[in-house]
Amino acid sequence: MTFFDRFSDVHLIGAHRGFRACRPENTISAFTASLGRCHFIEIDVQISRDGIPVVFHDSTLKRTSNAALIADRFGIKSMRLSTWDLSRLKELDIGSWFLAADPFGTLAAGTTSVADLEPQMPQRILTLAELLEWAMRHMLPVNIEIKDQRHTRFDQHAASLVLDVIHRAGAASMVLISSFNHDYLLQCKAMAPQISIGVLQNEQHPPELVQYLLALGAAAYHPADAITTRELIRTLRAAGFGINVYTVNDKKRQRDLFNFGATAVFTDFPELPASARRRPIQIPPPSLKRRRRFFHFPL
Ligand code: G3P
Ligand code: MG
Repeated sequence: MTFFDRFSDVHLIGAHRGFRACRPENTISAFTASLGRCHFIEIDVQISRDGIPVVFHDSTLKRTSNAALIADRFGIKSMRLSTWDLSRLKELDIGSWFLAADPFGTLAAGTTSVADLEPQMPQRILTLAELLEWAMRHMLPVNIEIKDQRHTRFDQHAASLVLDVIHRAGAASMVLISSFNHDYLLQCKAMAPQISIGVLQNEQHPPELVQYLLALGAAAYHPADAITTRELIRTLRAAGFGINVYTVNDKKRQRDLFNFGATAVFTDFPELPASARRRPIQIPPPSLKRRRRFFHFPL
């Protein structure tokens, strides 16, 4: 079984960094709030100074933590996550910034409340191992985006460090690995061919896209919404690939993409359609699985 075999629904909702519009991104608070609102969560992975994959988006700690306030106490000058050991990262509060920044205006709008959020603070950075243990407990599939480590000492090891955690958690069929760094995807496919990979792209499509995805052994393409067209979706679906588009918060655009044939959208405001809410996410019947030997996503 692979990541995509876990869904019987055709149109999938991926909670982008968890329920990021209403909770601090990439925290247990955001992931818990997305339960029942999505088919899977998307998380970002960086690597600590001592080589531990952790769930965090930016390469620096400035935007979403209180590192600037406590770095002095540890005698640390740099705000780059890759220069902090896990034990120091665990001291950070990666949640309270949300109360001050209200990044999506959901506090101002009353969609979420300070009274609900305050008791959840501080939020602590999660290791990938902790996140996967939580996701397995909730039977919630996870898209792991490996962030570029080119300027750290773990560039050559990022893929194997992440795979090691996945294997230890027994989560190979629960995850989809994606990255803008396609070298990592090649390495993952070589070391763990059974794990699905998604190819992230934010500006221009690689030339000969179908051949490119075939060469990588990709299950899906993950383009930015701005470069996604009906024709692109149709071409990739006809070639047997999934197409998962980020980040799509507008409901009409989500509907249009699904009508064009998109398999998933990533959104900061995850919400399942009523039909998906009525029943748990199911493993598809064997007849569907057989068809997927030929096409990842039956047309
Ligand atoms: O994986 C989709 C999306 O998360 C990629 O961009 O910057 O939000 O990680 P970013
Ligand atoms: Mg991401």
